[in-house]
Amino acid sequence: MWLELILASVLGFVIYWFVSRDKEETLPLEDGWWGPGSKPSAKEDESIRPFKVETSDEEIKDLHQRIDRFRASPPLEGSRFHYGFNSSYLKKVVSFWRNEFDWRKQVEILNQYPHFKTKIEGLDIHFIHVKPPQLPSGRTPKPLLMVHGWPGSFYEFYKIIPLLTDPKTHGLSDEHVFEVICPSIPGYGFSEASSKKGLNSVATARIFYKLMSRLGFQKFYIQGGDWGSLICTNIAQMVPNHVKGLHLNMAFISRNIYSLTPLLGQRFGRFLGYTEKDLELLYPFKEKVFYSIMRESGYLHIQATKPDTVGCALNDSPVGLAAYILEKFSTWTKSEYRELEDGGLERKFSLEDLLTNIMIYWTTTGTIVSSQRFPENMGQSIMVHRHEGEAWLSRERVLFLPGVFKQSWAAKTQGNFEL
Ligand SMILES: *[C@@H]1O[C@H](CO)[C@@H](O)[C@H](O)[C@H]1NC(C)=O
Repeated sequence: MWLELILASVLGFVIYWFVSRDKEETLPLEDGWWGPGSKPSAKEDESIRPFKVETSDEEIKDLHQRIDRFRASPPLEGSRFHYGFNSSYLKKVVSFWRNEFDWRKQVEILNQYPHFKTKIEGLDIHFIHVKPPQLPSGRTPKPLLMVHGWPGSFYEFYKIIPLLTDPKTHGLSDEHVFEVICPSIPGYGFSEASSKKGLNSVATARIFYKLMSRLGFQKFYIQGGDWGSLICTNIAQMVPNHVKGLHLNMAFISRNIYSLTPLLGQRFGRFLGYTEKDLELLYPFKEKVFYSIMRESGYLHIQATKPDTVGCALNDSPVGLAAYILEKFSTWTKSEYRELEDGGLERKFSLEDLLTNIMIYWTTTGTIVSSQRFPENMGQSIMVHRHEGEAWLSRERVLFLPGVFKQSWAAKTQGNFEL
């Protein structure tokens, strides 16, 4: 009797699994309105307007006054980055910011590429659009949408853009020449923030798809990291016929059995074909995965629940904002950087570049608040829909590791990136 019951349940589960597995292959392309008030009946203005980053003397004066009023509290002895940003090192960063950093020069750098804004679903969406300066005759560039995440901005792509749009000048093959479009996520940088609750990665995916169609691109490539990875994955799920290739430098996985296999232990991992490098990154599991997720994800919990409260402080203090964001640039570059007194920040970045990103958050008043509201809706975007892409991900045996996004994933996605 018991045996039959168990067999029936197992059979039931297997049937359910097969039936529910491929129910939905694409995300529905719906519609939305995120501007203030109710949606006007008139058709949205679809014009694309040139935009320039600007700064004023008052803005810089106000920033300097606030920086000068910074009240540091000393770190615990020998704490390095264990308790968050080391405030003694922060004083060094702040002194550079106050005395050497030249925001006007950085604004010029930001404006070296053409910026635009256009209204989509009630929001003014900002983007840069960079065309190749030269093309081998008879060739058209490949349109590529590049999407940033938190706490980043469109500025993340400034160093790679010339390699993509003008490879020859940079000593690369010009077999693939790209035309690059980097938008700001709504509520980030110069894109208007939603007035309504619920703007998630799926809605953002639709907005960016509309942006690409408005620019005249029927088929295009997409690249995303952090939230951009989720947004780009959602674009591929929503309008697969318009996406020629998806490239991610961070992989979100959900609801697949493989994501649980690390719990089964090292021996099982070996059986499943984990490499020595995988095992080294995963075990001891408690220390390398469980504690490090606990230790590093507090911010996400805050953002997903009460983003506006901490947002008040961050929107009011440039130094607080810098500490909050730069701590992520330290630990997310390398988790071991927690062990360094200066968080290793200047090992991979220049303070100038780091502060330019901070200034994009600071000068677009309030975006640190709106940018932090994004995770509120994360669950919906990751969990709700099953689709082909997910099955494909699970087959690739992708592991999500805190601070480390598996290299082989990048290699594999590159392999699938048909040009
Ligand atoms: C904080 O950073 C400064 C400057 O890099 C360093 O001298 C100091 O020892 C650090 N403090 C702690 C508690 O790690």
